[in-house]
Amino acid sequence: MPTAPPNIVRAAYAELIVTDLDRAKWFWVDMLGFALTTRDDEALYLRGCEETTHHCLVLRKGAEPAAACIAFRVWAESDLAAAEQWYGERGCRVQRRPAGATRGIGESVRVEDPLGFTLEFFQATDRTERLLQRFELHHGAAIARIDHFNISVNDAPAAYAYYESLGFRCSETIEDENRLYAAWMHRKPSVHDVAMTGGASPRLHHVGYFTPEAHHILRLCDLFGAIDEQRHIERGPGRHGVSNAFTCTSATPTVTASRSTRAITTPAIPTTSPIDGTSTTCVAATSGAPRSYRVGTPSRPRCSISMVASCRRLPSTLSGPRSSSVPTASANTLHHLPTPSVPKD
Ligand SMILES: [Fe+2]
Repeated sequence: MPTAPPNIVRAAYAELIVTDLDRAKWFWVDMLGFALTTRDDEALYLRGCEETTHHCLVLRKGAEPAAACIAFRVWAESDLAAAEQWYGERGCRVQRRPAGATRGIGESVRVEDPLGFTLEFFQATDRTERLLQRFELHHGAAIARIDHFNISVNDAPAAYAYYESLGFRCSETIEDENRLYAAWMHRKPSVHDVAMTGGASPRLHHVGYFTPEAHHILRLCDLFGAIDEQRHIERGPGRHGVSNAFTCTSATPTVTASRSTRAITTPAIPTTSPIDGTSTTCVAATSGAPRSYRVGTPSRPRCSISMVASCRRLPSTLSGPRSSSVPTASANTLHHLPTPSVPKD
């Protein structure tokens, strides 16, 4: 009988490596409107106003930009063992981490998955005050909760099959008669927890966060414009075709993301810098040639903010053999659109 995969509840948090915690706090907390759960000399732990979990974003100080991991919450503690076994059977590097290895998070399992990404699975988390109606504390875009990860993959069909085997289901795809170019897949009842588009991989394209109203997104753009920091508005505001999300992509300061130096967190989740013209966001709906098919559950209107992380691939220091099932690059890839030029004023 095949081993069951871990029962994943939802996308839970991203851990990004930043070079300047104060600069990161300015961008994520002061401007975007995350709540600061706590900070220490090494990291900031942020959450949205709806969330009672300890954090939905960790910004950890490091030498160079990177994403350390993307984390999924699982249903039960027993799912940690399931993750160990399921990934172990696929030849992936696996590491059990004690409670507190990440502040506010219970025992967890990190893996280097078949696509080359570092994933974390956890169930237990410290509880925090829900700030949903603490309106006096809301500011910026009043970030409510984490929504999704968007990853770049060499082989979209292989990535789709992998996430399907993990129990994810399809919301929408971009495909034609011959190819699958991109897919949006979910565990929680929303359009997606993970979106995958063809491109250089493994690479975290962006992390999506949900905000209560469309006007929060417009206000964020006004805030950046008012202080002549509009270079952080990478794309939008506007509505995506796929997912129907009203969205804006905010580019992080290049100094806020840096390469991880922690063993388990490398090779991290590589992406490219959002400021230097190599990264775009949510390219699927605007990528041109493929026809779009809407499959599965219908999209629903919503507002989200896509945060682009700035990261790149690093040598892995995880022990053990690499997975033999890492998908290889194929012709079935999308090419990212060029990043819009950053306005000078
Ligand atoms: Fe997105």
